[in-house]
Amino acid sequence: MEKCSWKENRYGQIDSGAIAQMKRGITYVTTPIYYVNAVPHIGHLYSTLLADAYCRWTRLKDPLNVAKLITGTDEHGIKVQKAAEVAKEEPQRFCDQVSSKFKGIFELFGIEIHDYVRTSEKRHYFAVQHIWDEVSRRGYISKGYHEGWYDKKEEAFVPQNALDSISSEYKDNLEWVNEENYKFSLKNCHDHIQNFLARPNSIYPPKYASSVQDFRVQDELSVSRISMRASWAIPVPGDSSQTIYVWFDALANYLTSLGYPNEKHAWKDENRIIHVVGKDILRFHSIYWIAFLAAAGLKPPNQIICHGHWKMNDVKMSKSLGNVISPCALAEVFGIDASRYFLFREGHIEHDSSFSWKFAQERINSEVVDTLGNLLSRSCRFARPERWYPAFYAESLNNEDCELMSILEQTAKNVATLNEDFQFAHSLEAIMDSLRATNKYFAYREPWSLVKSEAMVNKHVLENTLYLTFEALKISAVLLSPFVPELSNRVLDHLGFSEELLTLKLARLHAGKSSGIVSKKMILLKRFSHTFE
Ligand code: MSP
Repeated sequence: MEKCSWKENRYGQIDSGAIAQMKRGITYVTTPIYYVNAVPHIGHLYSTLLADAYCRWTRLKDPLNVAKLITGTDEHGIKVQKAAEVAKEEPQRFCDQVSSKFKGIFELFGIEIHDYVRTSEKRHYFAVQHIWDEVSRRGYISKGYHEGWYDKKEEAFVPQNALDSISSEYKDNLEWVNEENYKFSLKNCHDHIQNFLARPNSIYPPKYASSVQDFRVQDELSVSRISMRASWAIPVPGDSSQTIYVWFDALANYLTSLGYPNEKHAWKDENRIIHVVGKDILRFHSIYWIAFLAAAGLKPPNQIICHGHWKMNDVKMSKSLGNVISPCALAEVFGIDASRYFLFREGHIEHDSSFSWKFAQERINSEVVDTLGNLLSRSCRFARPERWYPAFYAESLNNEDCELMSILEQTAKNVATLNEDFQFAHSLEAIMDSLRATNKYFAYREPWSLVKSEAMVNKHVLENTLYLTFEALKISAVLLSPFVPELSNRVLDHLGFSEELLTLKLARLHAGKSSGIVSKKMILLKRFSHTFE
């Protein structure tokens, strides 16, 4: 057996035209590829939104950063095969229909997709068969008999020690398999798995890493099925009686999107590869995927970001339980910006989140409409007809001004740290806290009284009040841009900051020059007043 090491660089040639970019490296953020046996719900959307916000954040920090989002659909396997049968469709046609629904939802929600991989595509077949050959050539795959319980829902064999904890109703999802299969030697990858898990923050938040540590890694894994049983799958190269195990096939999508097995593929040390996954599929990514990559002589991903689930009444949202919220329904009720806001604000990576229409409405109204929208409209009422942006009189600053200025500077710093760790719910909380502080400051200063005063000192206080309020709105809009890009653009545009100025540098006091065209009237978002059961 060949020793596997990701230091080995079989594809080490550097594309000369891309040398400058290589130095900086590209950040690839992947989402899981979604099963097409069911239509999208907000849980799927959430995984993809996390990746979108991180890519946008990476570019916001420095427009020279290249961050690319990769997503797509997982189209093979018995589960999809059965769903196509139920729908009385050919599997390919069925997959085309559902896959385009996922893509349509992501586009509707303004997610910027660099590549959309479908496992039924030719390029993917090619990549999967290539990695299979490579892993096989290195001695990690052999033929033998396999028997055990197969979980059709999870598309995975159930480890012996997990059988006792399976409920009797769930047992319907299990089938006894006793057949000749190809087996992958996980035993020879244990060190690689352990090294990956031991690397700080390779799995983030760290609490999830311990759940994987507890998972006993089997010595071998069945990586094929008899074609007659699993016909809707990629054939094993050179043995059409067997098809490749869906997770081996699905995980390889990450390589497909990076151009593997082409010599100039991007799965290289100089690029940063981050996988975003829900907690239910962490095991496949942090154990099997690491092993497959090691066996193929490829480096592990740089990081796996894991997130909690969306629940309805304390139960995980899932199509099979019929308790899902459709992204379209959410968009119809609240529009795109407010829906994105809510999902980021209430979705958490470190724990599960509950969905409630009533609560979503309250959250959006109190934060986007009242805290942000009202501050914008109340302060813009003071806009003057001529080109104008409030002036800043450093010599007239008092304690409240200085306190607000330090809150604003600190918020930008805190958000930057939180965003690096995908802690977006906390970032939004910090932005809202700073806007609440600005609202308080604005109300305390009573600009409506100051405007009536003729005293020069009050004129300066008025200008400083409006200036710092506008700056707070500007800074918040920049920091909000990875989450609600359209809404953020509207705020900046209203304050006279052009789109070209939108980089993180603008999230500082006194940064950027406004055109001075600020109109008095502005309604950012109307209050929602739906009645929910
Ligand atoms: N096809 C596999 C992934 C293969 S990746 C190489 C799969 N698909 S899935 O459609 O079932 O799930 C895809 C993602 O959606 C997972 O990250 C999963 O955690 C996420 N979600 C599915 N339901 C969810 C919630 N209720 N809440 C949040 N995310 C959840 O697994």
